[in-house]
Amino acid sequence: MNATTLHTGTLAHLRGDPFAQPDALEIIPDGALAVDAQGRIAAYGPGPELLARFPEARRIDHGPDWLIPGLVDGHIHFPQFYATAAPGGQLLDWLERSVFPAEAAFQDADFATATAGRFVAKLLASGTTTALVFGSQYYPANAALFAAAKRSGLRLIAGMTLMDRNGPSVLLQTLDQALDGTVRLMALCEGEPRLHYAITPRWPMACTETLLGICGELLRDHPTAYLQTHINENPGEIAAVAAGFPESRDYLDVYDRYGLVGPSTVLAHSLHSTARELDRMAGAGCAVCHCPTSNLYLGSGLFPLTRHVERGIPVIMGTDIGAGTGFSLWRELAEAYKVQQLQGLGLDAARLLYLGTLGGAKALRLDHATGNFAPGKDADFFALAVGGDAYLAARLARCGSWEERLFCLLHLAGPAQVRATYVQGRIVTIF
Ligand code: GUN
Ligand code: ZN
Repeated sequence: MNATTLHTGTLAHLRGDPFAQPDALEIIPDGALAVDAQGRIAAYGPGPELLARFPEARRIDHGPDWLIPGLVDGHIHFPQFYATAAPGGQLLDWLERSVFPAEAAFQDADFATATAGRFVAKLLASGTTTALVFGSQYYPANAALFAAAKRSGLRLIAGMTLMDRNGPSVLLQTLDQALDGTVRLMALCEGEPRLHYAITPRWPMACTETLLGICGELLRDHPTAYLQTHINENPGEIAAVAAGFPESRDYLDVYDRYGLVGPSTVLAHSLHSTARELDRMAGAGCAVCHCPTSNLYLGSGLFPLTRHVERGIPVIMGTDIGAGTGFSLWRELAEAYKVQQLQGLGLDAARLLYLGTLGGAKALRLDHATGNFAPGKDADFFALAVGGDAYLAARLARCGSWEERLFCLLHLAGPAQVRATYVQGRIVTIF
């Protein structure tokens, strides 16, 4: 029996980095994706060519729908699942008023377990197949999150959100709890190819110097772990860090002093980073995560994409639920376009799609496994329906090129158009 499956539809992905390579975007109308029995991509190309090459393959015909590599969400908070659209002021007020109470609810392990299933399902239904997640402060909630990801196939990098000061006592860990929770969760990821651990200090003002030091030691002792945290998001937050760490020359320097700045570090936001901080991020190999709906919602600022790209800092996109207003990374791409328009940069379809797929995978150093349709990678992709919405179909019919169609889809399509999501060739969401 031939165990290859052939998915036919319109393929769109990036062969390389469109910020450096003008022809990186590849769109194949009437294309096909061959997936082997292990759920890896065997080949992709024009449909007739692949049908001839795999004549015995089981065929799944997606008709006019587009097949797109699974989206990569580089920043999202699991315990803020129900904290979206919360009223409040900017970051620090909003955290106190709306976020901390929502996060405390995850003490209830039954509630956390049910929410973990919903969280993972919501991401997959939005076309996201890889996510870097701030976990709960509580071990059982995080164990439930890893279990839900493992069951569903979502590629998950997550960690226990660490804080031991400046929050309600119910959210603060002792140093023992922080260390023990982290180490036990790291053990859960061992031998699991789609689960990874991220050491997760919340931000400098939520962590004592001892806890930041422990994070540095953990990172040094666990070379496969990631380090995720926040940086230079909001003026009030930046002022608090400057006052709290007067001996540090800037925000990044606080992390640097505890050994938290390196090639597996992912820094969320970086809206107001100085030239020195950006140069240091580039030198250390850090990645930065841009979360446009969150930045607009909290009034935090406009992400200076060019200042990052010109230094070669890998940029990944994030929904940042609950400051972000939706689970769709695709929607974040449309918002990123507007945020750059406000700064005089008009991103094209290739760059937008790259930021949500291959660029995110590279930033997480997972591009050997996901991000585009290169043979050998996991068949993580989703089908975007273009036929069900009469207006969308009519608008696309008026486009002069396939690239223009993709550009329209980036702005006009959303989670409602995600018809099916596949991880390792296995369907996980169908509408
Ligand atoms: N900085 C520290 N904690 C948070 C958080 O939960 N959300 C955002 N957007 N920024 C933070
Ligand atoms: Zn965040």
